Amino acid sequence: MDLSKFQRRTSHDVDEYELLPSTSEAGAEPGFRPVRRKPWQWRFFSFRSLACTLAAAAVVWVGYRLWFSPTQDQQPTLGIITTGDVDPGPPVGNDDPPRDPPLYEEYRERERHLPQHNASLPYPEGSHAKFLWADNHGSYFGWGNYMQEMILNAYLAYAAQRAYVFDNYTWEREGPEISSWNGHSIPARIPLSALISGPIIGGPIHDKDVPRAVSREYYFSVCPESERVVLDTRKIQETLAADATVSQIVARWVTELHSIDSPCVELARNSPALFDYGITNTKRVLDVFPALSKSPILSDFGWSPLILQGFYDNIKYFAPVSSLDGAPLLTETPIAPLKGLLALHIRRGDYEHWCNNAYINAMRFTGFNSFPELPDQYTPPKIDHTQKTSEVVRKHCLPTISEVVEKVLAANTPQITRVYVMTNAPRPWLAELKAALSAAHNWVDGIGTSRDLQLSWEGKFVAEAVDMYVGQRAEKFIGNGFSSLTSNVVVLRMHNPDLRPSDTHFW
Ligand SMILES: *[C@@H]1O[C@H](CO)[C@@H](O)[C@H](O)[C@H]1NC(C)=O
Ligand SMILES: *[C@@H]1O[C@H](CO)[C@@H](O)[C@H](O)[C@H]1NC(C)=O
Repeated sequence: MDLSKFQRRTSHDVDEYELLPSTSEAGAEPGFRPVRRKPWQWRFFSFRSLACTLAAAAVVWVGYRLWFSPTQDQQPTLGIITTGDVDPGPPVGNDDPPRDPPLYEEYRERERHLPQHNASLPYPEGSHAKFLWADNHGSYFGWGNYMQEMILNAYLAYAAQRAYVFDNYTWEREGPEISSWNGHSIPARIPLSALISGPIIGGPIHDKDVPRAVSREYYFSVCPESERVVLDTRKIQETLAADATVSQIVARWVTELHSIDSPCVELARNSPALFDYGITNTKRVLDVFPALSKSPILSDFGWSPLILQGFYDNIKYFAPVSSLDGAPLLTETPIAPLKGLLALHIRRGDYEHWCNNAYINAMRFTGFNSFPELPDQYTPPKIDHTQKTSEVVRKHCLPTISEVVEKVLAANTPQITRVYVMTNAPRPWLAELKAALSAAHNWVDGIGTSRDLQLSWEGKFVAEAVDMYVGQRAEKFIGNGFSSLTSNVVVLRMHNPDLRPSDTHFW
């Protein structure tokens, strides 16, 4: 697959919809002003003193509204760009007056001081640790794509008993901290700990022979260039069949990595990524799922305190507020299904033209959206070269409001009481959708959308992760089979024994 055309997008590649006008609609209550969050996470959050952290988190939860001083310079505005399989686009914030995107400094500091960044630790860490740094990971694409590749790279490192070397979620690899996308300022790099928690970002890993993940910075400090073994991925990939599955690729690389004594191993930046969408868009990714699901990479995967905070701050859209039952722990990611919630992932915006590509390129649902257990399977229609577009593809990729309503009614069951729409659709379209859904059925606990969420300034640039967490836990989910955001949600749902595959649908 030719990557170059997906690299750095110019502003006319991406589309116009994504920024919302500055309006007070973003808050559910009139007069709402987002509040600036203090960087409490780092004062209270430490892997080393977990008990202390949990107690502190409870205290913070009880007192947090007192702690946060509202600021006048923020307007509740945001364009959420949910990300898809080949069409990048980070979320952007829009402030009036304009304001620089957040730099997540506390998160970086925290990553710098992970306890495993210590050469004196006993086996398998300290001077015993072996590392795997995937310098060839992708950039210039949305969180959905980044997350998918990251999970597979981290799984490979785990399988090879090497410490996964984590980087930032990277829009732009080099250059200033603030980048621009489609005319908007965005963070060039976001520390992964602002998005996720767990073994991928240096949390405990329950395996006595596998060292915890370390930051790229630490890897550079303990692995001087002269000691690094830099592998061109093509040399190994050439020994595999062209249609090798992800399990076969992992097995081949584990053998290769086990044969290398050097602690410092990296995949050369200018060599092809092992798990880009050339493979994750195909069913060849599926056979790794049973092992991946059992591994700490998925079993202990969690969201960051920032994402969990965004979730709890907006819980009224996802669950009865009474279900909070005391102070939620921001160091734990509960995955119990949210009873009564139907989550919809409705991708509009960029998909309004991208869906024609899905037709012309005869695209299938992405790999993880093609589990055979899932009820909605899809086969692309035959391409008719006289046609630029196909109604069959459009229905699955860009359903109309009445098609959405029809599918929702078909998936609906009596216990569903509320709907949450994960979306980048513009507000007027969503107002119409809400009206149509309400006319078709009485949702006693209401309908919310991504546009309704109240998020901190830091939270706005990682908003799609809050959506993913909601989709992960919803009792029922209808997603977009072409989208990598949906496919990450599907992986997390398939991993959850309390959810049935029959409750995961696609348009
Ligand atoms: C590094 O690890 C050693 C051995 O566990 C410990 O004694 C030392 O305090 C650690 N250093 C830091 C800076 O945490
Ligand atoms: C993330 O990027 C910043 C520079 O923007 C860099 O200082 C930091 O080390 C990077 N983090 C990791 C984990 O590589």
